[in-house]
Amino acid sequence: MGYRDVYAGWQSDPEAFWMAQAKAIDWDVPPTKALHAENAPLYEWFSDGMVNTCYNAVDRHVENGRGNQVAIIHDSPVTNSVTKITFAELQGKTASLAGALVARGVGKGDRVIIYMPMIPEALVAMLACARIGAIHSVVFGGFAAHELAVRIDDCTPKAVIAASCGLEGAKVIGYKPLLDDAINQSKHTPETCIIFQRPQCAAELTPGRDIDWVEAQNVPPADCVPVEGNHPAYVLYTSGTTGAPKGVVRPTGGHLVALNWTMKAIYNVDPGDVFWAASDVGWVVGHSYICYGPLIHGNTTVVFEGKPVGTPDAATFWRVIEDHKVKSFFTAPTAFRAIKREDPTGEMIKKHDISCLQALYLAGERADPDTIQWAQKVMGVPVYDHWWQTETGYTIAGNPTGIEALPVKIGSPTVAMPGYDVHILDEGGHEVGPGTLGAIAIKLPLPPGTLPTLWNAEERFRKSYLNTFPGYYETGDAGMKDEDGYLWIMARTDDVINVAGHRLSTGAMEEVLAAHPDVAECAVIGVADELKGQLPLGFLCLNKGCTKSDAEVVAETVKMVRDQIGPVAAFKLAVVVDRLPKTRSGKILRGIMGKIADSQPFKMPATIDDPAILDEVRDALQTVGYAKGGSQG
Ligand code: COA
Ligand code: AMP
Repeated sequence: MGYRDVYAGWQSDPEAFWMAQAKAIDWDVPPTKALHAENAPLYEWFSDGMVNTCYNAVDRHVENGRGNQVAIIHDSPVTNSVTKITFAELQGKTASLAGALVARGVGKGDRVIIYMPMIPEALVAMLACARIGAIHSVVFGGFAAHELAVRIDDCTPKAVIAASCGLEGAKVIGYKPLLDDAINQSKHTPETCIIFQRPQCAAELTPGRDIDWVEAQNVPPADCVPVEGNHPAYVLYTSGTTGAPKGVVRPTGGHLVALNWTMKAIYNVDPGDVFWAASDVGWVVGHSYICYGPLIHGNTTVVFEGKPVGTPDAATFWRVIEDHKVKSFFTAPTAFRAIKREDPTGEMIKKHDISCLQALYLAGERADPDTIQWAQKVMGVPVYDHWWQTETGYTIAGNPTGIEALPVKIGSPTVAMPGYDVHILDEGGHEVGPGTLGAIAIKLPLPPGTLPTLWNAEERFRKSYLNTFPGYYETGDAGMKDEDGYLWIMARTDDVINVAGHRLSTGAMEEVLAAHPDVAECAVIGVADELKGQLPLGFLCLNKGCTKSDAEVVAETVKMVRDQIGPVAAFKLAVVVDRLPKTRSGKILRGIMGKIADSQPFKMPATIDDPAILDEVRDALQTVGYAKGGSQG
């Protein structure tokens, strides 16, 4: 069956489609049905089944004869080491850490924050939580203490599992001081912190609260606890329009079923094959395709602790693919832009045999045609863009190569996957025709594994995703469909920007800037960047009587964003202006400022209060190297 048949089969009977996929999962109690629509427009999947994620990702493979297969390859150029862990070893490690959690009073439904770099222990920690039905929330290492504190207060974890440090190229980043700072800032205090000590930087433990990773495991191991299909497997925070991150809830049953299905249908790997997603466990890609997806499906997963360039050079990716016989490889386009910048002609790849590789998959941000074509040329394999979000946890639109490799149209992530009924709507919620730009919305219900709600924030869930277009999920992306049903993802419709494949909120940065005592008003926009796709750029209006120079205030705000949101925000550009361009009703015209910065044409809004301010904006942008091309209203 080709893609069109599979998609049509799903459309005509979604229940049968997903119940058939659910057979690939080992349930303690099989679900009697897939969709539960009693609380529509809030939907749940497989709620009456009982299942355990860790059992399906680890134990069952040991029972089925894969015990000696390598489950995790940790390749770490920053520590110059490669470590392999078999499924049998992984079972022992997760059971042991799960035992430690149980001994510290953590049980089903309790939250556990995981703050760890790209080490196998991060996966062990995630799986150990899943083993006992605890709900993990992994926080990316590049966030500052304040962001960690916000997450601690929102999900009120009983325990934290952290590493003493992370290694960012040659830099050693102490995670434990950041954790201590976060716990000082938060209202909620976790009872226990289990600390994995790395030799590069041992952390001092806080008596009474902290316990060493090894010592904590001096207790009996814990077995898998079956949970309901709708039990949250994890909460992962992602950026929204405000400073408060959204806690995306991932339901257990649908997560297992859907991820398992994607491994063959989308990534075209069979159990036993080596799969590599070069991302970070702190992002959704890391959850779905470094940890859960490959392991559930019986693949070997590569945990890479390094960067595409500089660890030690732009050939690192090629070496890892060759050394570990990677069959399917997934990363963000920004990583390829970094490699291309260092090795434009692809000389370094010639020294490596990457014939094991079947295809490259790109996601996390728009894949620009130049990057795709360069990757196709130097790697000699098909390059597949695919589009998804933290909220969905897996592909909305992609090229289902395990079903049928569809022709690639460069710039399009291809077509909607079974489970997703994607529509392009105008502002009034009416469908627009092929080739017309609109808001991308997905007809409810979303498929299994996607978010059923936000953690502790059902109203926010409805407001953010369900209210704008009743009966649809609003993706926050704008784009179009062509005559062949291919999707084209063009831009965000909200204040979210994408910096090096990392999703960030300009609203959150504005909240930090506004707290500077000399800043009267501010705005943050995303400007185009050759390497990172976008970079944040701040506009600051200063209070009258400010005695500091513009440069001093700019430097202070840059430091504030780094200290409060984190280095990952990459906030390094800001300009001082007298006024911000606004509509007569006072709405800041961020979109137009972005267009001016990127020298793109824009339409002068009829409601603009004072068009002359746009010239001031252009002048200010030119001082930092933007708006050179002179865009026109
Ligand atoms: N812990 C601590 N700090 C971190 C971190 C982590 N896990 N990850 C990033 N940072 C820091 C970096 O050290 C850097 O700090 P600096 O300002 O002191 O230099 C800052 O955050 C920005 O990091 P990054 O965005 O990674 O930029 P970079 O210039 O170091 O590297 C790329 C640029 C393109 C090589 C890099 O962004 C990359 O590999 N991106 C891949 C994207 C990806 O995996 N996305 C996930 C979705 S698929
Ligand atoms: P995240 O939740 O961090 O995965 O970010 C999701 C957002 O990244 C999407 O809503 C898009 O704006 C953007 N994005 C992800 N993948 C793609 C893609 N293949 N093409 C265009 N934009 C993408």
